Amino acid sequence: MSILKQHLDESVRAIATRTKIKAKVGIVLGTGLGALGKEVEAELRMPFSRIPHMANSSVQSHSGEFVAGTLNGTPVYVLEGRLHFYEGHRLSDIVYPVRLLHALGCEVLVLSNAAGGLNPAWSLGDLMVIDDHINLPGLAGVNPLVGPNDDALGPRFPDMSRPYDPALIKAAHKAAEETGLKLREGVYVMVTGPNLETRAEYRMLRNLGADVVGMSTVPEVVAARHLGMRVVAFSIVTDLCIPETLEEADIETIIKTANAAEPKLTGLVKAMVGGL
Ligand code: HPA
Repeated sequence: MSILKQHLDESVRAIATRTKIKAKVGIVLGTGLGALGKEVEAELRMPFSRIPHMANSSVQSHSGEFVAGTLNGTPVYVLEGRLHFYEGHRLSDIVYPVRLLHALGCEVLVLSNAAGGLNPAWSLGDLMVIDDHINLPGLAGVNPLVGPNDDALGPRFPDMSRPYDPALIKAAHKAAEETGLKLREGVYVMVTGPNLETRAEYRMLRNLGADVVGMSTVPEVVAARHLGMRVVAFSIVTDLCIPETLEEADIETIIKTANAAEPKLTGLVKAMVGGL
């Protein structure tokens, strides 16, 4: 058995001995988007620090808690907080929570993030379901699967023709319609960060075909697809990245905007979770 598999078994044991919840759906909440976790009828709340082999998030806006419970009657595991590459974490640590969710029995992964809006037709606070992503060297181009492949987890060359599950995207649109929510759909480009981009970079990213830009999510998606999990991911537009009208961004404003738009994400995930 690989070291990774042993570690996952130990993490699973630490959780499974403390909760009877058996969830097929795992949810990872991004910057400023922790409120969904409060909606969960929790049977277990556990700081990441108490789960063996889980690295801890150092970002202030991420509380770093594992929650097992029910959301709208559906069993879920929720990870409030995630690790970022810009914090200096290893990619294997960044995707460990995803592999843990899979080891716990999850088949569906729901991800969320705060992102900069590149599409000039969109507004602050807009919610987008991710249809595709761009992950290129020089932007972020970080890949958690580099290195020897663990065949027990997945194939050497995982397919990425549809990283985001078309049926789940459809379900998201249906839930949005039912709850009277405007839902965008588009392409997420990952950059390393931690600095925000220059005007020239935003122009380039837009020209590459991206609708939003952020510093997370892609490693988790790649690891989840490697494991064969079905993925649906949402971005909240927390700042407008239009080169001609770019204003100075600061992280407090970004988090405030994420917090303000959070109820949309919560409403949407609550509405669709039963059908996942
Ligand atoms: N760029 C990169 N990441 C981000 C941004 C941005 O403008 N806003 C929120 N996350």
